[in-house]
Amino acid sequence: MRVLNFSVNGVPKTVHLEEGRVMLSDVLRDHLGLTGTKVGCGVGQCGACTVIMDKKAVTSCTVPAEKAEGKSVFTIEGLADGGKLNPIQEAFVEAGAVQCGFCTPGLVMRLFALFSENPEADDETIEEELNKHLCRCTGYEAILEAARLSRSKMIARAKPN
Ligand code: FES
Ligand code: FES
Repeated sequence: MRVLNFSVNGVPKTVHLEEGRVMLSDVLRDHLGLTGTKVGCGVGQCGACTVIMDKKAVTSCTVPAEKAEGKSVFTIEGLADGGKLNPIQEAFVEAGAVQCGFCTPGLVMRLFALFSENPEADDETIEEELNKHLCRCTGYEAILEAARLSRSKMIARAKPN
């Protein structure tokens, strides 16, 4: 039995891992019950499982659990502030960029990592990041609009009143 110590959404966690191959997405969903992180392809192609690890967006289905040792991981469950949605989540709703919602947590986490590092990321940079994700329902334009709206909202939030 292996032991993993890391922090998830600001809370220290200790997880006992079974032998064999265990990925970060398995730990989040199966051990910690954080099922907001979705698993689609399982091989790093669709972006559904994206979370933030030490401030970088990662596809958690490709991160062996032991790589998270001592790291700080944020998932979609850590974004909302109490009952209040994060500005990026609000933007997806307002832009009509959510249908089945399967791809949404990963997209939101990817954009949160991007705008946290670069609040004024240009459209080309945003499109590069969105290209790491697949959505079978909503369509690229609505997601791009949500991403632009997210940028405006994150900038507005960062400004002092
Ligand atoms: S489930 Fe991880 S990238 Fe598709
Ligand atoms: S909203 Fe259904 S996969 Fe994107």
